[in-house]
Amino acid sequence: MTKHLPVMPEEVIDLLDIRKDGIYVDGTLGRGGHAKLILEKLENGKLYCFDLDEEAIRESKELLSDYDNVVYIHDNFKNMDQYVSEVDGILLDLGVSSPQFDEGDRGFSYRYDAPLDMRMDQEAELTAYDVVNTYERDELVRVLREYGEERNAARIADKILENRPIETTLQLVDVIKSALPAKVLSKKGHPAKQSFQAIRIEVNHELDSLKSFLEMFDHILKEDGRVVIITFHSLEDKLVKYRFKELSTVEDDKRIALRPEEIKEPDYVLLNHGKKASEAELETNNRAKSAIVRGIRRTHGKNR
Ligand SMILES: C[S@@+](CC[C@H](N)C(=O)[O-])C[C@H]1O[C@@H](n2cnc3c(N)ncnc32)[C@H](O)[C@@H]1O
Repeated sequence: MTKHLPVMPEEVIDLLDIRKDGIYVDGTLGRGGHAKLILEKLENGKLYCFDLDEEAIRESKELLSDYDNVVYIHDNFKNMDQYVSEVDGILLDLGVSSPQFDEGDRGFSYRYDAPLDMRMDQEAELTAYDVVNTYERDELVRVLREYGEERNAARIADKILENRPIETTLQLVDVIKSALPAKVLSKKGHPAKQSFQAIRIEVNHELDSLKSFLEMFDHILKEDGRVVIITFHSLEDKLVKYRFKELSTVEDDKRIALRPEEIKEPDYVLLNHGKKASEAELETNNRAKSAIVRGIRRTHGKNR
């Protein structure tokens, strides 16, 4: 079993401010790192855990076998409202877990040779092979540019088209390298990192899941409930930041147009303005490098 160190564990627990009899949801179970920290705080409460990855659920069941107040659900966190209502807190720790990267055969890593897969959910239809080998040039450029913030997206897309079919991760790494100027290749960091990230986000529809969740959680969060989200990518963080801001502020137009007594104060308050991992954590957990944690608290019930 590969170990996965939970990112910003103290901050997450602080922000969730767990009630010992509460109902909590871990939308991204992974290897149960954060789930265990939540369970340690619960007494009569219950934890619902979601993951798209069957392997994550199987291994976490073993790791958390001491607890009998956990419900495991193999589904996308965007569908959470089909399983739970009236929850006290929700955690999302987005992206991929260390074991998913390290299990070479999953095709997430540019370091191990494997078929181009990258599916978090082994039952999903779209694979990295499909994206790399069937997408039109323009679609590929969009994916690489938007999700990978890859400045050489067009050059990489052209090389991919020239070299199709591309079967494995290391073949793809070679194709990406052949598209990049020497100046870029000599920089620190793996030259295929951004492209792999982009293809993974596309394969797993990661931003769509996050957008759906951000619209949905308002229906299931109780008064005084909290949502805490750790992101690893600027696009993810922007989505969280804007939605949290929208829920916690009254627009200036409304403030100007309405009389003070007509203004409905927002249902939410921000718990922070986005926090990064400490230097000490970065020394021991490389995954925390690009992490930003944000939290929001529901101040008013749904039917006020
Ligand atoms: C960064 S890991 C979580 C690690 C976990 N917090 C821990 O401490 O062990 C992210 C996990 O979320 C899962 N995941 C990502 N997007 C998901 C989604 N939309 N629905 C359900 N699970 C998802 C991935 O399969 C992965 O196992």
